[in-house]
Amino acid sequence: MPEAVGEAPGKVILAGEHAVVYGHRAIALAVDRRTRVRLRSRPGPSGIDHSAIADPRLWPALATLLPAEGVGLSIESELPVGCGLGSSAALSVALIRALARAEGREAELEELVEKGFRVERVFHGNPSGVDHTVAAMGGAVLYRRGEAPVRLRLGRPLRLVIANTGTPGNTAEMVAGVRARGHAAEIAAIGALVEEVARAVEAGGPIGALLRENHRLLRAIGVSTPRLDAVAAAMEAAGAAGAKLAGAGGGGVVLALVEEAAPVMAAAAALGCEAFAVEVPEG
Ligand code: PMV
Repeated sequence: MPEAVGEAPGKVILAGEHAVVYGHRAIALAVDRRTRVRLRSRPGPSGIDHSAIADPRLWPALATLLPAEGVGLSIESELPVGCGLGSSAALSVALIRALARAEGREAELEELVEKGFRVERVFHGNPSGVDHTVAAMGGAVLYRRGEAPVRLRLGRPLRLVIANTGTPGNTAEMVAGVRARGHAAEIAAIGALVEEVARAVEAGGPIGALLRENHRLLRAIGVSTPRLDAVAAAMEAAGAAGAKLAGAGGGGVVLALVEEAAPVMAAAAALGCEAFAVEVPEG
C-alpha cells in the first residue's frame, strides 16, 4: 500500500440531538478541529503504529475497513474523545479518505456515508449518522436519518464559543437512558424547535432564545448535568445570546451563540473549561 493521508473535521450539534435518533431533523456544523489518519505499508497483520486516541473500541471499529494484513496506521487528532465533538466520526471519515487515496482516488460522499456508518456502529451501537455525515460534508447540515442530508445556507455568519467541560459523556448510555425513560413530548418539541432554528438561521434571524429552549428540553429529558447547566448559565451571563449542551450530554461540551467571543470564553475558562471560538460563514 502506498503512503496516504486522510483528514476530516469534528462537528457540533446546533440543535436536535437525541430527537434525531427518533426521526426528527438535527442541525450539525463542522468545526475546524480535525483528525488526520496516515497509512503506510508494514509487514504482518495490520495495526496501529501511533494513536492520539486511547479507546478500547478503536481497533474493532477501524478493523471493519482495513485489510487484515499489511497496513500500519497513525492517528493525530485535535478532537477530545467523548465530548460531543464527533471525534469517532472524524476518524472514520479520515480513514475512508486515506484508504481511497491509497488506491489513487478520492472517496465520494456516498462512500464516506455508507462506510462511515459501519465504523460509527462499532463505536456507538445504533447512531443516527449525523456525526459522520457532517464530518464528510463539512459546513452546516440539516440531517434526518434515512434521508439525503441537506446543506443549510446561513443568512448570516454564526459566531459560537464551544466550551469543553472536560468530563466525557457516553453517547450509547445517554441514548439508552432517554429511550428507557420515554419523554415523547419533549422529543417532539425538540423536533419542532429544530425546524424553527433552521428557518431562522437561513433568514439570518435570532436564535438565542431557541438555543436556550433546546437546552431546557435536553435538561428535561435527563441528559444535562449540574456542571453543563452551570457552564451554560455562566456563558449567558457573560453575554452569550443563548447556550446549550451539544451532543449526547452527561458531560462533553456547551455551545454558546455570541457577538463577542472573548468574554464568553473567559467565563468558560473561569469554570475550568477549555474554550474555543468557531465561526460558520454565511452562505
Ligand atoms: O456522540 P455525540 O455526543 O456527538 O452525540 C450524538 C447525538 C445523539 O443524537 C445524542 C446521538 C445520535 O446518534 O444522533
